[in-house]
Amino acid sequence: MDNGRRCAVNTLVFGASLGGSSLNNRLAALAAREIEQRGGGVQLGGMADFDCPSYDADVERGGGIPEGARRLHDALLACDAVVISSPEYNASVPGGLKNAIDWTSRFRPQPFNGRQVLLMSASPSMAGGNRGLWSLRIPLEHLGARVYPDMFSLAQAHHAFDADGHIADATLRKRFDGTIDCFLDLVEAAKLYPTLKKQWVEFLGERTDAATDRVELAPVTAA
Ligand code: FNR
Repeated sequence: MDNGRRCAVNTLVFGASLGGSSLNNRLAALAAREIEQRGGGVQLGGMADFDCPSYDADVERGGGIPEGARRLHDALLACDAVVISSPEYNASVPGGLKNAIDWTSRFRPQPFNGRQVLLMSASPSMAGGNRGLWSLRIPLEHLGARVYPDMFSLAQAHHAFDADGHIADATLRKRFDGTIDCFLDLVEAAKLYPTLKKQWVEFLGERTDAATDRVELAPVTAA
């Protein structure tokens, strides 16, 4: 375990399930604890904080970005990194989470650009919801987030936690802790030595046209 961080790393951690007894909220709470033990700052959120009515262009045109998206926008700007533990619905990303991402992407500049992101999932199934994470990568990477290559998926999650909320299986627990360690090292390094500086272009490869052009610089540190 490494508590000797050279700079403060602030992380937004949230479970993407509205359910109170959610397995993903439990995994997010565990990730938050582990990050704090490694000297990281944590803002622990919940999907209820970021939930939005279905995207509606007329509402947006009227200036009405929902409160949930505003809260997610502000939380993203205040952090260096995000950890999302998301359920898998029908082999894909849950609609509520995708909808919150869609609304939040309408802010200019859009706040996912340049954020480091770690994805995890929990499910009673044998695949642990991992297919949903592959779907979740797509909008996040499209928006310029730096999604960590490894993803942690907790299979048979309804039996996987011990009474203290830790992962009961020693091998899995070590893997989970190792993923968090390596992710925090990357976030810290990226904050200290921002090497990937690029423009975010919403529609790559389009002819330049005022109707579609949306080009923003990646922020190199949290606001
Ligand atoms: C599910 N669930 C599910 N699980 C899975 O591993 N793969 C899947 O494709 C689906 N599909 C699915 C669709 C819908 C509409 C629901 C409601 C559920 C089961 C899901 O993983 C389980 O309910 C988890 O407990 C949900 O996560 P939380 O809410 O406990 O964090």
